[in-house]
Amino acid sequence: MLQDTFHRKHDYLRISLTDSCNFRCQYCMPEENIQCMPNRHLMQVEEIQQIAKTFVSLGVRKIRLTGGEPTVRKEFATILRNISQLPVELSLTTNAVLAHNYIEDLKAAGVRSLNISLDTLNPETFKKITKRDQFQRVWDNILLLLNEGFRIKINAVAIEGVIEKEILDFVAITKDLPLHVRIIEFMPFQGNHWNSKKVVTASQMLQWVEAQYDMVKLRDEPHATAKKYKAIGHEGTFAFITTMTEHFCGDCNRMRLTADGKMKNCLFGSEEMDLLGTLRKGEDIVPLIKTSVMRKHAVMGGQFKTTYKDADPSTLKNRSMINIGG
Ligand code: 5AD
Ligand code: SF4
Repeated sequence: MLQDTFHRKHDYLRISLTDSCNFRCQYCMPEENIQCMPNRHLMQVEEIQQIAKTFVSLGVRKIRLTGGEPTVRKEFATILRNISQLPVELSLTTNAVLAHNYIEDLKAAGVRSLNISLDTLNPETFKKITKRDQFQRVWDNILLLLNEGFRIKINAVAIEGVIEKEILDFVAITKDLPLHVRIIEFMPFQGNHWNSKKVVTASQMLQWVEAQYDMVKLRDEPHATAKKYKAIGHEGTFAFITTMTEHFCGDCNRMRLTADGKMKNCLFGSEEMDLLGTLRKGEDIVPLIKTSVMRKHAVMGGQFKTTYKDADPSTLKNRSMINIGG
């Protein structure tokens, strides 16, 4: 079992399969020098399997595949099948634009639940955010996945200027559809023009929602990142991921692996361990994994000393989100 110096047990690994994406969301992907890693820098199919297996031998029980957009990796279906052979709960974070091609693969791999990134319900706004005219395809795929019996969480980044107009629409879609909408406070990553004034806080958003709907607070699961609510009479739920205003580092069980095989012990951690390089030298990666976990900071990678309001984005050391992997 991977335990850190704060007695947190780490049994959840998020593996990024690629740093490329078929969308261009600014908060995730810097506009300047978009350059994908050359294929030889990426973990290859066998290497992903070997690293994943090592983590499982150390107690990992849950694996999430991320990106960039994981489904653009050409070996996506093979990687999914391979990892499904391990004794883990397997899931996926995706923009869903290619989901219709993978329904059978997802079922065969035993995937039950998907996190789908969708920041707006307006096709025109969608085009502005993602630089792609694909709202309808994504929405149709969400309905298709629901019909096929998958549990669907929608991740919407609370983009200033957008979320204000749409937050009630996001609650409205939970009325007749069993969707789990999660609104995420805007987080700083390299090149995404974050500043604290652009953070629309969960408490502000909750006020807007409560002015229109009777909301009840639901019980949150262990290790949950989301604070869940339900509008009375609705099929689905509604939640806030309060990374900026109220971190949930206290019972964090998460570790990450970038597409180039670097382990990160925290989304905001600046330190990385080169698991892939070590594996390619024929050396044991277990000591690196353990060291990485032991070095994990108590809160937010040790990078936010006080409140997010005082955070200076120019002093934060991190990759861009597309390079970390959601
Ligand atoms: N702030 C908040 N959430 C983000 N995501 C990507 N970049 C950011 C950011 N800057 C979210 C995406 C995706 C998840 C993996 O991370 O919406 O759903
Ligand atoms: Fe792609 Fe998701 Fe990043 Fe948007 S948020 S650029 S869909 S990986």
